[in-house]
Amino acid sequence: MPQLHEHVRTVATPQAQPVAPSFDEASLVVPAVASVQNLRIGDTDGAELVHGVDLQVRPGEAVGIVGESGSGKTLTCRALLGILPPGLRITSGTVTIDGVDLTDPASARWRGVRGRRIGAVFQDPASYLNPAIRVGDQLEEVLRVTAGVPRAQTRDRAHDLLDGLGLRDVDTVLRRRVAELSGGMLQRIMIAIALAADPAILIADEATTALDVTVQAELLDLLRTLRLERGLALILVSHDLAVVSQVCERVAVFRDGRIVEAGGTNRVLRAPGHPYTRQLLAAHAEYGLERYLR
Ligand SMILES: Nc1ncnc2c1ncn2[C@@H]1O[C@H](COP(=O)(O)OP(=O)(O)OP(=O)(O)O)[C@@H](O)[C@H]1O
Ligand SMILES: [Mg+2]
Repeated sequence: MPQLHEHVRTVATPQAQPVAPSFDEASLVVPAVASVQNLRIGDTDGAELVHGVDLQVRPGEAVGIVGESGSGKTLTCRALLGILPPGLRITSGTVTIDGVDLTDPASARWRGVRGRRIGAVFQDPASYLNPAIRVGDQLEEVLRVTAGVPRAQTRDRAHDLLDGLGLRDVDTVLRRRVAELSGGMLQRIMIAIALAADPAILIADEATTALDVTVQAELLDLLRTLRLERGLALILVSHDLAVVSQVCERVAVFRDGRIVEAGGTNRVLRAPGHPYTRQLLAAHAEYGLERYLR
C-alpha cells in the first residue's frame, strides 16, 4: 500500500517536478506477472486451509513470504504452480499468470503454459531427482520436453545453463548422480531445471533452509544475480527474516492461512503494524536482523 504521506505529497504539489515513483506507487501501474486474488483452498471434507490470500508479483520484483509453520505459504505457492496436493482444491478466487485467470475453464490451453512461465525450487532437491539417472540427462530431458530444445542441442544448452549459474567443472557435475553431489550442488541443478524454459518468475520455497550458511549465502547471491541478469521475479518463502530482508523488497506475513501484514520489507520489518509481525521480529532479534535493513 502506498504510504499516506506519499498521497498527500502528490495531491499537495500537482505542479511540482515529477518525482521518481516510490516502489509501491510503481507497483500499482505495472501489471503482475503472477497473482492470486482472494485465494481460498479447501480439502474434500470442506475444511478451509487458506482463507482469501491476495498476492501480486510484478516483473523482476522479489516478494518474501514469511510466517509460522502451517500458515499456508507452500499451499499458496502450489496453487500458483497448479500443483496442489491430492485432496486439496481451490474453492474460490483467481490465480492469474500474465493476466490470464487459470482457474477459468476457458483458459485450459494456458495451464500448459504455466510451467514455462513459473519455475520452482523446494527444500529437498534430492527428492525431485531420479537417483538412477545422471543429473545432466535429467536436465537435458527437461530442456527437451518443457523448453522444446531440439535433442541435438540439449547437451550444449545444459552446459550453458550451469555455466551461467557460476558452476565450475560443469561437465563433471552433469555426469554425476544425486548421491554423488552435495545439497548445494543439487539445489543449483534444481535451479537450472526450474530455469530451463526461461520463466518470468521463480518460486523458492525454503530452498536454502537445509544448507549450511556459506552455501545458503552463495545461493542467495545466485538468486540476486539472476534477478539482475534475467529480470527474473522471485517469490522467496523462508522462515528466516534475515534472508528475506536481504533479497526481497516486499514481504507478506502469513498466519493461519491469511496474510496478516504486507508491504515494503523495510517498512514491515522496521515498523511492523501487526502484533504477529512484532512477535516474529522479536524471535529474530538475536540474529541481528538490523544490519540487513536499509
Ligand atoms: N496435502 C495436504 N492435505 C491436507 N492438509 C494439508 C496438506 N498440505 C498442507 N496441509 C495443511 O494446510 C495448512 C497449510 O500448509 P502449508 O504447507 O501451506 O504450510 P506452510 O506455511 O508452508 O508451513 P511450513 O513452514 O511448515 O512449510 C497446514 O495446516 C497443513 O497442515
Ligand atoms: Mg511450507
